[in-house]
Amino acid sequence: MSSSISTLFSLFLRRHFFSTKLLTLSKIPTRHRAFALREAQNALTDYLHSTRCLPFTYAEHIGNKALCSITSLIAKVDFSPPTFSKSFQKFLRYHPINEFEVFFESIGIEYSMVSELLPRDKVFFSEDETLFDAACTLCDFGFPWEKLGLLYVAETSIFGMNAEQLNRRLCGFKGYGFGTIEVIGICLAFPFVLLEEGQVRVGRIDGLLSDLKLLFLDFGLGRVVKGDVDSWHEMCRKLRVFYDLDSPKGELGELIGRNKSIFIEHREEELVNKLDYFCRFGVKKEEVAKLILQCPELLKLDLEKPIFNVMKLLTHFGLSSEDLEDVSQGYGHVMGTNKMTNLPNVTKALSLQEWFFKKIKDGNHMLLADYIAGYPKEEQDLDYQEGLRMIRSLKTRVHNISKLNFLLGLGFGENTLTINLLNHLHGTSTELHERFDCLLRSKIEFSKLCMMVRTTPRILNQNSEAIERKVNFFHQEMGTPLNHVETFPAILYYHLEERIIPRYRFHKWLSGKGLSCKKYSIRSMIANNEKKFVARVFKIHPAAPKHWFEQFRHSNLSV
Ligand SMILES: *[C@@H]1O[C@H](CO)[C@@H](O)[C@H](O)[C@H]1NC(C)=O
Ligand SMILES: *[C@@H]1O[C@H](CO)[C@@H](O)[C@H](O)[C@H]1NC(C)=O
Repeated sequence: MSSSISTLFSLFLRRHFFSTKLLTLSKIPTRHRAFALREAQNALTDYLHSTRCLPFTYAEHIGNKALCSITSLIAKVDFSPPTFSKSFQKFLRYHPINEFEVFFESIGIEYSMVSELLPRDKVFFSEDETLFDAACTLCDFGFPWEKLGLLYVAETSIFGMNAEQLNRRLCGFKGYGFGTIEVIGICLAFPFVLLEEGQVRVGRIDGLLSDLKLLFLDFGLGRVVKGDVDSWHEMCRKLRVFYDLDSPKGELGELIGRNKSIFIEHREEELVNKLDYFCRFGVKKEEVAKLILQCPELLKLDLEKPIFNVMKLLTHFGLSSEDLEDVSQGYGHVMGTNKMTNLPNVTKALSLQEWFFKKIKDGNHMLLADYIAGYPKEEQDLDYQEGLRMIRSLKTRVHNISKLNFLLGLGFGENTLTINLLNHLHGTSTELHERFDCLLRSKIEFSKLCMMVRTTPRILNQNSEAIERKVNFFHQEMGTPLNHVETFPAILYYHLEERIIPRYRFHKWLSGKGLSCKKYSIRSMIANNEKKFVARVFKIHPAAPKHWFEQFRHSNLSV
């Protein structure tokens, strides 16, 4: 969810410049470093202004805000306090700098990302028609220079627009009744609004701006926002978290307006976390957005640490006694306690995620709050506690605990079944996770996959590529592959080239010859060892083994 937003965040997380980068200036004594930096900044500003003819204001923005680039330039010049300024100026004269590099850093793009953005064959602004002018136009309107990178990363084509186009867009926003600061906040959070109509889905920009007008002006949300760019940007980012989940019809405006206190009381991160949590039930994102807006109480709950007991929670939510019986009989691996943060996967492991989400959505969300308040201290199963003590007492505890957390994260409960699985699972938790997700992508249902791991954990003891090749083979050649895989998970474990393919092709050949294989399922066809297999084949037709040996059997197998 909202991954574009979080990517932007990470790009703009302020680096700890003074603690890390200045240390790379190891040639310069600590007490002179700030001086060297200041001199170099001034020299760069002066160079961009006087030599490269950039207007002073923008040259200064770049000089002041391209710290990493400047640091690496400083490192190339010999340092001695009395001559440093002169030598640095001289250095710039003889080594024209890449103007795009210092520019991109100065507009707030993470330095490590800059090299990917540099044009291949240009180093001077004068070689690019619009980039620098667009930045100046936006800056003149009031955009903070160091935030322009947000726009660049999200919608690069904004910087291909000329001054007239940009100004036309910006003035257009004022027509909705927004002031300059508001417009800037909106653009930073929703950069696509700056694009020309036609580059964006028809009506999307107008729909959004009309909604924002409704919220800020009619519902009065604007009155609680402080009058600076940062506050408006922040408020708009919170709104974006919801708009990113909106349905194509755009139905959120009113609902947000009527629940605007959410946006005043909660930080963006809290909103992101909660939306993300409920999205993990695998339901439609717009449903999740509506749920949170209609049940803001959910935002106050701790849905990470509290421990719950699966059966108690399901009972509390009113699962019928028949279904409770089925669950406890059929899903022993999910039973016991688990952490709230794993609840979405717990319900998926039980195939009850839709039921559960519907319960909450249909007005029963307070059941969740009541449950957490009513059962504050759930005890783990005693055998599980004992097992855990054993794991912790061994040197291998770190490895085993992380595997255990992998299983708990999938929705396996804190029970002995889960502990007993550990010794049958080989690989780090990251590898196991990858392999599990690989099978999930092949469209095996979550609950069935958990069941397969429970009965045949070794399906996760092979690398993802092997799993993928097998699944592809099943999909392409075996008609209804998932039935085989789900009822006979071990099929995933046999060697593809040496066992599965030759046996399966032979099976088809026999059927093609009209030799009935009805009594011989694919399952035993593949699972039987070579000797048993040949004996079975012989029973089907005495001449069949000859064909097996000569045409089908993989040559790697020794006789
Ligand atoms: C933990 O891991 C090691 C090997 O990684 C294994 O030998 C040991 O038996 C494991 N199991 C438990 C329950 O501690
Ligand atoms: C739930 O399962 C998915 C699918 O494997 C996984 O990516 C996710 O990390 C799991 N959630 C938790 C909290 O472990």
